[in-house]
Parts: sequence; structure tokens; C-alpha cells
Amino acid sequence: MNQEKLSIALDSFWLPRQASNLAPEIDFGWTLAKIVAYVFFALVVGAMIVFVVKFRRRSDRDRTSALQHNTALEIGWSVGPLIILMACFLVGFQGYLASSVAPAGAYEIAVTAQKWNWQFTYPNGVVTNELVVPEDRPVKLVMSSRDVLHSVFIPEFRVKQDVIPRQYTTLWFTATEPGETVLLCTEYCGLQHSEMLSRVRVLAQDDFGRWLDDAASAAGGSPAQQGEKLFTMYCSACHTVDGTRRVGPALNGLAGRQTTLVGGQVLVADENYLRESILTPATKIVEGYPNAMSPFQGVLNDSQVDAVIAYLKSLE
Ligand code: CUA
Repeated sequence: MNQEKLSIALDSFWLPRQASNLAPEIDFGWTLAKIVAYVFFALVVGAMIVFVVKFRRRSDRDRTSALQHNTALEIGWSVGPLIILMACFLVGFQGYLASSVAPAGAYEIAVTAQKWNWQFTYPNGVVTNELVVPEDRPVKLVMSSRDVLHSVFIPEFRVKQDVIPRQYTTLWFTATEPGETVLLCTEYCGLQHSEMLSRVRVLAQDDFGRWLDDAASAAGGSPAQQGEKLFTMYCSACHTVDGTRRVGPALNGLAGRQTTLVGGQVLVADENYLRESILTPATKIVEGYPNAMSPFQGVLNDSQVDAVIAYLKSLE
């Protein structure tokens, strides 16, 4: 997923497209606060400029005015802004309440963050790298991290929430139009943070049901085929299979070949080395690469590790 450049239509000067039920209300609060800020900027700076010119000191005989205060004016400029700020608060608080509590019966998708990719697990056990959601149905994401702080941000849905190790956070939205958008990580999480992106696809409800069934029936396959899916899901953010160097070394042609470790030790990359490097990668670091990989101990079970090794051995 990460190798493909996700086309992000977010580089506009204006706000991104509104593609969820929450977007209009959030944009209203944002626009309100912005307009208040512009108006008061003009009032304050405008008055300042006028006063600087009008009341500038004209001669040595100028004296400061004896006026000390104007009660009506002072109450006015205190109470007026208070009312405006309370209105902004109400709009913001209503939006916050609406976005923090998912409606009962929302469709739940589990989100797992791990340096540096996203996994989405659907109720029927399908796991993907891209977030696929039905249109016009509330979707609740139940999210956790396997390593460090990450943060889910889907700009066109106007939702953002930290993803934390050892506990769950949630967010919800109803996608309002079919199409594609992007989910990004907005918590600095290390080397590949800026590439921790996922595609988000919104499908009409019928299409979503079909997609989910197809994904479930495609879950089988030979060990190498299963391994390729696992590789795409877990490893491809940092490793390629076409010889290109990323955070980690390219893995094509590795199985059975000699490899040099930090410290100069040379070994043959056999099954035991591959297994160890998946489960506890810090044990043996390849020369010229950082110790950056999260351990997969407890993430992949034995048969999944077997499948990934079968896939690596199938590569030229
Ligand atoms: Cu994950 Cu930044």
C-alpha cells in the first residue's frame, strides 16, 4: 500500500471535501471562529491605527487626557465578546459531543497501528491494509497500537484520534458519498511516519457486502500466497521485494543467501534466521541498517511465520 503514491486531494487552499456526517457541523464551528477572529482583528488593529494617527502627540504642550474610564464602553467590550465566545463554545461542544459518542449499532472495525502501517479487522475476520467502509452507515473504529503513539486522521471525514498502546480509543463517522480518500498518521512515530498512510474506500452498502464476502473467500491459498498477503500487510512499509532499499533491506533473494550483520558476522539466511528476524528482529541487525523494526512475537502465530518464510523463499 505505502509504495503506491496515494493521491491526496488535500493540497487545496480551501478545506478538504466534506465526506462524512460530522463534517458540516465541524466546518461551521471552524468558520464561525475564523470569522470572529477576522472581524476582531480588523476592529482592534483598525482602531489602533486610527488612534495612533488621531491622538499622536503634536507638540510639547500636549497633555494626556484627564478621562479615566467609560463604564458603559468597558461593560460593552467585555460582555459583547463573552456572548460571542459562549456561542462559539456551544457550537464546539455540541460538535464534540456528536463526534465522541458513536450511535448504538454502529458497524465496528478494529484498527491496529504498528510502525509503520495500519491494519483494519472486520467482524468476519477479514484483515486489510486499506479502510473499506459502507456508505450511509455509522462506522465505529476501535483502535489500539502495538508499539508507540500513532494517530488516525481522515481529513475529508473531519475525524482525528490518537491510537495508544495497551488501551483502546474510538472514533466514529458516517461516510456520505462513495469514493476514495486517505487516512494518515498525525503523531510523529519514527522514520517512516510520513508514509504511514492508508487508502479509505467508501462503497455503497451492497458493494460493501460483496467486497467483504470476496475478501473472506480470498483469505485461503498456498502458504506462499498467504505469506504474500501477510507480507503486504505487515512488512511492505519497510521492505521491498524488488531490490529497493527502504528502512529495512530488500528481501528478494535473501532466503538461503549469505548476509552480513552489524559487527561483521556473516551467516546464511536460513529458516531459523528468518524466523528469529521476524519475531525478535533486534537480535541480529543487518549491516548498514537501523535497529528500527518492531518485534512480531505475539503478533504472528507459528503458521503465519511459516507462510511468510514460504513467501520469502519463493522470491528470486
Ligand atoms: Cu504512526 Cu506517525
